[in-house]
Amino acid sequence: MGEREHWKNRSTFIMAAVGSAIGLGNLWRFPYIAAQNGGGAFLIPYFTALVTAGIPIMIIEYGLGIRSQSSANVAFGDINPKLRYIGWMAIMGAFVINIYYCAVMGWALKYLFDIGSISQWGSSIAASKTHFFVDTLGVSDHPFHFGGIQWPLFAGLLVTWLTIWQIVKGGLGRVGKVLLYSVPLPVILVIILVVRGLTLPGAAEGLNYYLSPDWARLLDGQVWLAAYGQIFFSLSVGFGTMIAYSSFMPRDTEIPNSAAITSFANCAFSFLAGFAVFSVLGYFAVASNLPVGEVAGSGPGLAFVVYPTALATLPVWVKGFAALFFITLLSLGIDSAFSLLETVATALSDKFNMSRHKSTTIVALVSFSLGIPFVTQAGILWLDIVDHFILSYLITFVGIAECIIVAYFLGVKNFTDEVNKTAEIKLGKIFGIMISVVTPAMLIVSFVTSLVQEFKTPYEGYPISALILIGGGSLLIVILGAAILGRANTNNGSERR
Ligand code: ALA
Repeated sequence: MGEREHWKNRSTFIMAAVGSAIGLGNLWRFPYIAAQNGGGAFLIPYFTALVTAGIPIMIIEYGLGIRSQSSANVAFGDINPKLRYIGWMAIMGAFVINIYYCAVMGWALKYLFDIGSISQWGSSIAASKTHFFVDTLGVSDHPFHFGGIQWPLFAGLLVTWLTIWQIVKGGLGRVGKVLLYSVPLPVILVIILVVRGLTLPGAAEGLNYYLSPDWARLLDGQVWLAAYGQIFFSLSVGFGTMIAYSSFMPRDTEIPNSAAITSFANCAFSFLAGFAVFSVLGYFAVASNLPVGEVAGSGPGLAFVVYPTALATLPVWVKGFAALFFITLLSLGIDSAFSLLETVATALSDKFNMSRHKSTTIVALVSFSLGIPFVTQAGILWLDIVDHFILSYLITFVGIAECIIVAYFLGVKNFTDEVNKTAEIKLGKIFGIMISVVTPAMLIVSFVTSLVQEFKTPYEGYPISALILIGGGSLLIVILGAAILGRANTNNGSERR
């Protein structure tokens, strides 16, 4: 393997990081998580999570990637060789998330082809639900009743993997070129959707729901948990991606400001996307005489059930706006999906001295194959369970570990002194207090609350056997994968290339 590749410049790096962060999480996940967790009330824990966990961890990940010039396993292994296992766990997190992430991309792709008949399948919420859950997903009644493969979704999954494989195996040069389109395009498209949404009658009702805080919900621990999970997922932190991306920058790269720009750009985009979604929901709720909360509270189906139904009632350009919406979802997701593939492929290249072409091909093939259960009739059930377990436990654990490793193994002073050499915004005492006390404390509370909740009530009423086998199994795969990769001998017998 030759010289390590580098991004062309800092702007390309920030664009890549923003592209990774801004994804389905912003337009698909954020609105329904906000809706499920008190609408406007959710914005308070969400922005608290951004400041107390998102930005500090983004700074840590950039710092670790840049100082190690390598993937998460080496970044941690440099501090203490045993810690490389934690790095591998983060990388395995990216691996698992991408397996179901690409399945959701497949849904969006399939919907793009359904737009021709949107006036039929989107004629009411009931019709849309049938189209999504019965015609598209064919949802079974139990996570172990796989039924058959849903071939259109299988095709969507295949096309998604072929696309991101093509992009990533072409190296950072090709990734950089794609980013020039995949980052600005969804921003422009979402602005168009916001303008359309805000000019509809009833939009204000939706925005009221979105923006007025219901203070009582702030006492609900679940709301806070959801906010931390959403911040991690949305910023692409806790799964090694930002470490991998920043490792392609030279050692004198500015960190705190770059991390703040990435984080704020991402959250501002989510906030904006909320306007696109809730204005249309408000319009739809008023037109159909329903409370906005009822219209909005449909979970992961929000983008695929309620939103298209609402679009179908527009006076003009129904198909045009529906196409715009699904193209936005796809263009949002693509750069996040390839950043997750890049995370895993780079780690394998770094460790086994493998060409990028080979590592990308292996990871894409294995991930695609493991994605097949997600396009069966039990797919959405698997997705929901795996997503819950990986975000609530693995990613939160990695976040806690990152803070503790930097604060107590590397040392806050060593880290901040190093970072401050090139910092545009100097890290001070507040950063130290954050990563040594506040962030890990918040995350530990979040982790433990989630765990207690798990034992009290089975997540979403799924059978316990399914939660243990699918949820616990996905965590086990991560742990075993990390143990095997962390132990495997490399050509030179160390984690370093
Ligand atoms: N950060 C990516 C997203 O929000 C994974 O979709």
